Amino acid sequence: MNDEQLDRLVDKLGLDRKVRLLTGATTWRTAAEPDLGLRAMVCSDGPAGVRGESWDERRTSALLPSASALGALWDEELLTELGRLLAAEAIRKGVHVVLAPTLNLHRSPLGGRHFECFSEDPELTGRTGAALIRGIQSQGVAATAKHFVANDSETDRLTVDVRVPDRVLREVYLAPFERAVEAGVWLVMAAYNSVNGTTMTASPLLAEVLKAHWGFDGVVVSDWAAVRTTRETARAALDLAMPGPDSPWATSLTDAVRAGEVPEQAVDDKVRRLLRLAARVGALGPHRPRTVPARGHRGHRALLRRTVAAASVLLRNHDDVLPLDPAALSTVAVIGAHAATPRTQGGGSAEVHPTGTVTPLDALRSALRGRARVVHAPGPALDVPPGPVTPDHCTDPRSGAPGVLVRLLDGDGRELHAERRLSGRQPEPTLVAGAHTVEISALLRPHTTGTWTFGVGGFGRMTLRVDDRTLLDDAFPRQTDDPAIVHVTPPLRTARTPLTSLRPVHVVARRELLPGDGRATVLAAGPPAPDVRAALAEAAAAADGADAAIVFVGTTEHSEGEGHDRTSLALDGSYDDLVRAVAAANPRTIAVVNSGGPVELPWRDRVAALLLSWFPGQEAGAGIADVLLGRAEPGGRLPTTWAARLADAPVTGTRPTRGQLPYDEGLHVGYRAWLRTGREPAYWFGHGLGYTRWEYESVDVPPLAAEGSPIALRVHLRNTGPRAGREVVQVYLARPGSTVERPRRWFAGYAAVGAEAGQRVTAEVVVEPRALRHWSTRDQEWRTEPGTYRLLVGRSAGDIRCERPVTVTGAP
Ligand code: BGC
Repeated sequence: MNDEQLDRLVDKLGLDRKVRLLTGATTWRTAAEPDLGLRAMVCSDGPAGVRGESWDERRTSALLPSASALGALWDEELLTELGRLLAAEAIRKGVHVVLAPTLNLHRSPLGGRHFECFSEDPELTGRTGAALIRGIQSQGVAATAKHFVANDSETDRLTVDVRVPDRVLREVYLAPFERAVEAGVWLVMAAYNSVNGTTMTASPLLAEVLKAHWGFDGVVVSDWAAVRTTRETARAALDLAMPGPDSPWATSLTDAVRAGEVPEQAVDDKVRRLLRLAARVGALGPHRPRTVPARGHRGHRALLRRTVAAASVLLRNHDDVLPLDPAALSTVAVIGAHAATPRTQGGGSAEVHPTGTVTPLDALRSALRGRARVVHAPGPALDVPPGPVTPDHCTDPRSGAPGVLVRLLDGDGRELHAERRLSGRQPEPTLVAGAHTVEISALLRPHTTGTWTFGVGGFGRMTLRVDDRTLLDDAFPRQTDDPAIVHVTPPLRTARTPLTSLRPVHVVARRELLPGDGRATVLAAGPPAPDVRAALAEAAAAADGADAAIVFVGTTEHSEGEGHDRTSLALDGSYDDLVRAVAAANPRTIAVVNSGGPVELPWRDRVAALLLSWFPGQEAGAGIADVLLGRAEPGGRLPTTWAARLADAPVTGTRPTRGQLPYDEGLHVGYRAWLRTGREPAYWFGHGLGYTRWEYESVDVPPLAAEGSPIALRVHLRNTGPRAGREVVQVYLARPGSTVERPRRWFAGYAAVGAEAGQRVTAEVVVEPRALRHWSTRDQEWRTEPGTYRLLVGRSAGDIRCERPVTVTGAP
């Protein structure tokens, strides 16, 4: 639909009806306008899958690896395929707008939503995001580039004022969004935070940079509940306030327009953009059913499994301990709690309910069945609060079926509604008129005698009973406005009580529903922790008798999640002890790290191999087993530099001072900061081993390049190792003697090539002209400094194999 047609539609509406369209009709839907042929558009989180309109564990979704894993792919074709998978999921669930990808940066390793972002580098983030966006939108489903901009950490995220110089904004934090706009993204989400004094939903960056400079013609949607004023946000280039129906726009915006405080043309422009979006996603004009591309459930699973392997990063492989040869194994020890209960995704608005999860333990057992014995030792229990009860150990007290009973009661305790559900965590229990209390109850059959921990989560008045014992009865006032905490991951209050093995108990959690306290309610339970020393000894004994020991360690929902930043990079203490004990017992110890972001690995030189699996999504175990047993090469390269210790990391700050968070490091984020300080990280950006070896033989680079033209490099390599493999050839730039400040070196492009053992291959890397330019704050324009640059070709930001000069001449 062209602009004239859109204008004609806008002209048909009076002010009230136009303004009505600019606030959501519900939490996830936009308003419909049947007279224009406009249907409601459905939005859904999030990056790792498409949850759909409701937060219901029975409505399952395909779960991708976390964004940090996708950042490790360095494979734009695969990313586009994953984007198509997200689109297929969106269509299956009636969703028009996917609230992904997240294009914020891994500025600090402590960032709570690190797992949901791709990389510390703006160029890699931009390429990764653009490829995913192309895939999503190729099927007529909208993608949303979020959170615009500088929402790189979580502390005080609703109010923090990020102070970042103009040039740094353009070159580092805005750059991935610019790439998204070039890729044709249909929505951009304005973040909660402020940048340089203005909250992002009212920021001049929306009109001046996003729309005027970059020519973005889509919709700027607010982050959920990020609109807190009427005039400022409406006058800025924000287009759609979500969620609804209540928002500071709605009727107040009509009044502001009538009072002459917001020009009506501004409203018209917003409506025009919304209609354009509707036309793009098939929500305007005659209804045409959207079809789901025919890959099918099995096809999706195969793609996700392939992605787990392609994203996993092999950091160390002493004496080529990996891949394990199944024919040479008779006993394998699989150790650690994350082997049987991997963490497949990060917490918060991005969460989805996968149909099922393939655990590493199950996948290894099935791959080695009939060949080798798999011995499992869980190791010590982690020191974390109990998790939500599950159908594995609970039944609905009414029907006896696996799960829990969720009831809604009126003020007199009369039942208004009851249903069996599959999780003790209910972010959005069904609501019915007159509901006063949510109750979650279950019959729990303890598998162990000892002191169990129970928990109830939510805000407001809550009680927790186990049989006739009242463990908790108190009011827990809401202390935050953060929607992710209020509606998704409310804090848990815990209490302990002794239970006897196999003697069932009736557990009942109740929470009063008061306006503003959110709907999320949780019933959690955790068994007594086994003796730490005995658990370590059991793990060491299992490792001792095995041909290889695979130890799975990782973070939990309590350390990485939306709404808060991390305070430490250390794994739970018992994990460090566990790896040390296992490595001491078996020299062929392989550690698999299951985290969304960096963790400290103080024992990293004591294990034979070290593999990062990230949060691998639903096919976790299948993909990891493929890598461990050599059916697939670990294809990932680090999208972010990993520190040996938090104390070494040059940029860590996430805590605002007096409301402000200055990005004092300027352009020097990630590996650039490490290079500038001269410190050595544990693993550099770009690092990752495959199962073969490569020799960089020579590089062809044109000696001269005209300003504004791409530079094409030809890198000749040979696979000198024992098997076929894929190599990611990386190119960095440096500019000695630059007249403007520059990073020591910065990432400028890459190409991935594959070759059989012994084969030669040429990687063609194109360095785009944008890699050389800098933002001139004085001229408010991009400039390219003529002169000699150095092209550095290597395997990571810290492993440069060859270097060539190229002289950039002024524009012809
Ligand atoms: C998050 C967004 C998300 C939105 C809707 C917000 O709290 O920051 O990423 O899309 O909620 O769930």
